Parts: sequence; C-alpha cells; structure tokens
Amino acid sequence: MMRFLRHILGIAALVSLAPAASAADVSYAGVKTCTKCHYDHGQSWAATAHARTFESLKPEVKTDAKKRVKLDPSRDYTKDKDCLGCHTTGFGRAGGYQVGAEPGGAEALGSVGCESCHGAGSGYRDLHSKADKRLKETSESTPRKVLVSAGQNFDYARACAGCHLNYQGSPYKGAKPPYLPFTPAVDAKYRFEFDEAVRSEALHEHYKLKGAFAGDPVPPIRDEFQKTAKEISEE
Ligand code: HEC
Ligand code: HEC
Ligand code: HEC
Ligand code: HEC
Repeated sequence: MMRFLRHILGIAALVSLAPAASAADVSYAGVKTCTKCHYDHGQSWAATAHARTFESLKPEVKTDAKKRVKLDPSRDYTKDKDCLGCHTTGFGRAGGYQVGAEPGGAEALGSVGCESCHGAGSGYRDLHSKADKRLKETSESTPRKVLVSAGQNFDYARACAGCHLNYQGSPYKGAKPPYLPFTPAVDAKYRFEFDEAVRSEALHEHYKLKGAFAGDPVPPIRDEFQKTAKEISEE
C-alpha cells in the first residue's frame, strides 16, 4: 500500500513540477558552482562512483563488464551519444555536458554531478544564498516551494530511475532509448532498489541543514538523514 501510495505521490509531484520547470532557467551550473558553497558535499561526492562515471567509457577500462554486454572493451565510448546521457550531467540540454568537452573542465560536468539528482541549478542557486542571508538577518525561513519553480528537484527516486531503471521491461514506465546496458537480466547485481541505493555509499554524506528553507516538498528521507547528519566543517 505504501509503495502504491508513494508511486501515486511521485506522479502527482511530477505533474505539478512539469509546467513550473519549463518556465524556470533550466541550464546547468556545474559541480564547481555548487561546491563553492557546499564544500563538504563536494569532497564527499568526489569519493563516489558517480564522480568517476566518465572513466568507465574509456578503452581498456572495466573490460570484463563490457564484454558481458557485448560492448567492445578496446573502443573509446567517451564521445558516444548512446553512453553520455547517463555518464555525464545534463548531456544534450542547455548548459549540460557536450561531446568532446574536458570531463573535469571548468564546471566538471563529465560526471554524474550534483545537478543529475538535484536538478539543473542556474535558476535556483542564487535563491540558496538569498535564503541563507534572510535566515541570518531575520531568523525567517524561505518556503521551499520557490525552489521547485526554479527547477530544483526533490523527487530523487525519479532522478535515479532516469539512469538506473532506463531499460526495456523495467518497472520505470518512462524508459526510452538509449537504454542501460547493465540490467538485472545480465546479472542480479544490477537490480536497482531505490530505498536501499539511496542509503548506500554511492551517495555523498549528509550534513546538517540550518533550515534556510521550510515547508513542502520536504524530501521523504530528509528527516532520517538529518538525524545522523554531520556538522559542516566551514562556512
Ligand atoms: C552561494 C552559495 C550556494 C550555492 C552556489 C549553492 N548553494 Fe545550495 N544551499 C546554500 C545554502 C546557504 C543552503 C541552505 C542551507 C541550510 O538550510 O542550512 C543551501 C541549500 C541546499 C539544499 C537543501 C535545500 C532544502 O531543501 O532545504 C540543496 C539540496 C542544495 N543546496 C544543493 C545545491 C546544488 C545542487 C547547487 C548547485 C547547482 C547549490 N546548492 C548551489 C548555498 C548555496
Ligand atoms: C540509461 C543510462 C545508461 C546508459 C545509456 C549507459 N549507461 Fe553505463 N551505466 C549506467 C548505470 C546506471 C550503471 C551502473 C549499473 C550498476 O552498477 O547497477 C552503469 C555502469 C556502467 C559500467 C560499469 C559496469 C560494471 O559492472 O562495473 C560501464 C563499463 C558502463 N556503464 C559503460 C557504458 C557504455 C560504454 C555505454 C554506452 C554504450 C553506457 N554505459 C550506456 C547507466 C547507463
Ligand atoms: C545521470 C545518471 C545517473 C543518475 C541520475 C544516478 N545514477 Fe547512480 N550511477 C550512474 C552510473 C553511470 C553509475 C556507474 C558508475 C560506473 O561504474 O561508471 C552509477 C552507480 C551507482 C551505484 C553503484 C555504486 C558503486 O559503488 O558501485 C549506486 C548504488 C547508485 N548509482 C545509486 C544511485 C541513486 C540512489 C541515485 C538517485 C538518488 C542515482 N544513482 C542517480 C548513473 C546515475
Ligand atoms: C546521486 C544523486 C545525488 C548526487 C549526485 C548529489 N546529491 Fe545531494 N542529495 C541527494 C539525496 C538523495 C539527498 C538527501 C535528500 C535530501 O535531504 O534532500 C541529498 C541531500 C543534499 C543536501 C541536503 C543536506 C544533506 O547533506 O543531506 C545538499 C546540500 C546536497 N545534497 C548537495 C549536493 C551537492 C553540492 C552535490 C554535488 C557535489 C550533490 N548534492 C550531489 C542526492 C544526490
């Protein structure tokens, strides 16, 4: 029942997001912009597999895995449109990764960066510093919903699904080509369970928020993570 409800709620969130997102500035700011303020998140994220997804597209890397799904292990896939969509940030969209760009360049978009999960950030990044200033000066929080209309994503399950469940016959109904080559049919270890994966070391560590934003949509896992979140090391 909970699962069903969550599914319905997910769709409701999507529907309400759609018009707002198209009105917002949905271009990508890049990891380096986010980590100017979110330094600890940047350090922690850099240690995850999501920071190294470009490596996997290089020749002679992960050869056994590639052979299993009939990919050519000696081929360079770093300019292949059938791979870049899930191994970089915002590929094919405004401000996103472009074929041939230096993966760790000025914005570090050649990875599964912050905005792959949190949404393209050009429209919402300034709202973060404004809300912070307001909190400091007046002790007032800013309604979180302004972030949604500025393009920030809070439906994490859907963000993951766009890459991890994007194959034919997957439970994710939005699946469309190019598909994920590594599916549960290849090996059970490629099965993706959101509830488990979101709590795994694949994600950055969690740090305490001061409450610059308040109200809906509160991510369902926010409270759980905040209970054990670390203190931020510097301002
Ligand atoms: C100018 C500094 C700055 C930049 C740039 C910035 N943020 Fe933030 N961000 C903040 C501050 C300050 C908060 C409020 C933190 C709090 O409540 O303690 C925040 C809050 C957040 C939150 C939590 C929002 C909530 O629901 O309460 C997320 C997620 C986040 N930022 C991600 C990002 C991402 C991704 C980027 C890059 C696109 C980014 N930020 C860019 C300063 C910044
Ligand atoms: C729809 C998204 C998507 C597309 C398209 C995609 N990948 Fe991936 N790739 C992923 C995800 C998600 C994983 C992680 C799978 C896991 O561990 O469950 C992954 C993992 C990998 C791995 C590591 C597998 C392992 O067992 O270590 C390699 C290598 C790889 N991809 C190469 C490629 C190449 C080459 C292409 C293009 C021909 C490609 N991918 C296209 C999403 C994608
Ligand atoms: C833009 C595509 C994309 C998005 C969005 C994405 N991932 Fe991934 N993820 C990947 C790729 C690609 C890999 C494989 C890394 C590799 O081996 O190159 C991966 C790897 C992983 C792994 C395996 C890590 C390891 O150490 O083997 C987990 C777990 C994971 N992701 C969870 C998540 C969760 C949870 C979300 C959503 C909150 C998410 N991912 C969102 C593309 C994505
Ligand atoms: C694979 C998906 C994914 C990537 C990549 C990612 N995040 Fe997150 N992030 C999450 C999830 C899931 C949460 C927990 C839900 C929440 O509290 O909003 C979270 C929470 C946060 C928060 C709220 C406080 C906390 O620590 O829980 C901030 C701030 C944040 N992320 C910033 C970043 C920044 C900056 C980057 C890039 C360096 C980044 N994230 C990369 C998925 C991701």
